[in-house]
Amino acid sequence: MQSLLNKKIILGISGGIAAYKSAELARLLMQEGADVQVVMTEAAQQFVTPVTMQALTGKPIYTSQWDSSIANNMAHIELSRAADAILIAPASADLMAKLSLGLADDLLSTMCLARDCPLLLAPAMNKQMWEHAATQRSVQRLTEDKVVLLGPASGFQACGEVGLGRMLEPAEITEQLIAFFQKKLLAGKRVLITAGPTFEAIDPVRGITNLSSGKMGFAIARAAVEAGAEVHIVAGPCDLVTPLEATGKITRTNIVSAKEMHAATMQSADCDIFFAVAAVADWGIAKPAKEKMKRQGKGAPSLEFSANPDILADIAKRVKTQGGKPHPYCVGFAAESADLAKHAEEKRKRKGIPMVVGNIGPNTFGSDLNQLLIIDEGGSKKIAKAEKLQLARQLIQLVAKKI
Ligand code: C5P
Repeated sequence: MQSLLNKKIILGISGGIAAYKSAELARLLMQEGADVQVVMTEAAQQFVTPVTMQALTGKPIYTSQWDSSIANNMAHIELSRAADAILIAPASADLMAKLSLGLADDLLSTMCLARDCPLLLAPAMNKQMWEHAATQRSVQRLTEDKVVLLGPASGFQACGEVGLGRMLEPAEITEQLIAFFQKKLLAGKRVLITAGPTFEAIDPVRGITNLSSGKMGFAIARAAVEAGAEVHIVAGPCDLVTPLEATGKITRTNIVSAKEMHAATMQSADCDIFFAVAAVADWGIAKPAKEKMKRQGKGAPSLEFSANPDILADIAKRVKTQGGKPHPYCVGFAAESADLAKHAEEKRKRKGIPMVVGNIGPNTFGSDLNQLLIIDEGGSKKIAKAEKLQLARQLIQLVAKKI
């Protein structure tokens, strides 16, 4: 799935060492289907050449406001009128100061002043430059002017110092630009999600787990942040990266066992929507061994199980009616090996929740694709096979209507 299909993006590059990452950024935007037109300042060309960017984007690169190749010789107007957004990465301290004052002395700054589309900046500079009062004044003015700032991040800098001012990674900028274009259906809402498997220890080195990858839960987390929500994800053991982390709109608690997942989830229970996506172990080992269990002749040990708390049922018990609607709105998941629709509806009733989402198998575990069966009080509805992120966006749309 390409999330920037039909989007025309002007990628502005100003003079900073992070400009070497702009080549990768152009590629990532294009992989998402964007039509990328690069505009470079004079200083940017000291760090990366127009030839590099032209070879990658397959288009001439604009560098001068006196470029006679544009029919009416008004590159600053022509280019920005066709664009869905101008993204400047890296945005130097000098460029940010200029834009905050409305100065327009080269093609990129003139184009920003003349634009009628959104402007997003990914700042990149030394930490002292970022912290300087002058730069912070620029940040404040630009924010007041509805310019969107992506980052900066904190970390190791090219100058050898460590601190705030690093440009976000190209993948993070791409993820945030995609999010920028999504409808803010959940603005101001708090979303809680459980995701992934749990692991029930038998002894310090062995345990029982399941095949859940966490991909569906993490896709829902990403779609919810894209929709403007504040998200908390409680994740079982999985190696997935927290989506859109640089936005500061998502927090994560990593847990191992079902009991830990229950405790962490109950701590964050104060939310507007709860998605119980995790494949939680129904039973844990009653008394896990403190030391590694040793082989004893040819015999096999027998394991005694004890029931784990039902996280979804416990959150559902807290539901109150607000404005005639259940709050928080709880969505359960069901993965069944047979009779999905019947079991999922039973689950919905038994847990006392308004919606259950069935994974239409087989083999959705670990896959990037899935098919869903949505069951609520109005009946059931299939969502056709698609990437989990695409399904997650559709699910968010459905739930947004419910609340
Ligand atoms: O029937 P079952 O309890 O397995 O229903 C699955 C749904 O319940 C899923 O949404 C799952 O995340 C949730 N669940 C839970 N806590 C458990 C078991 C399941 O939240 N202990």
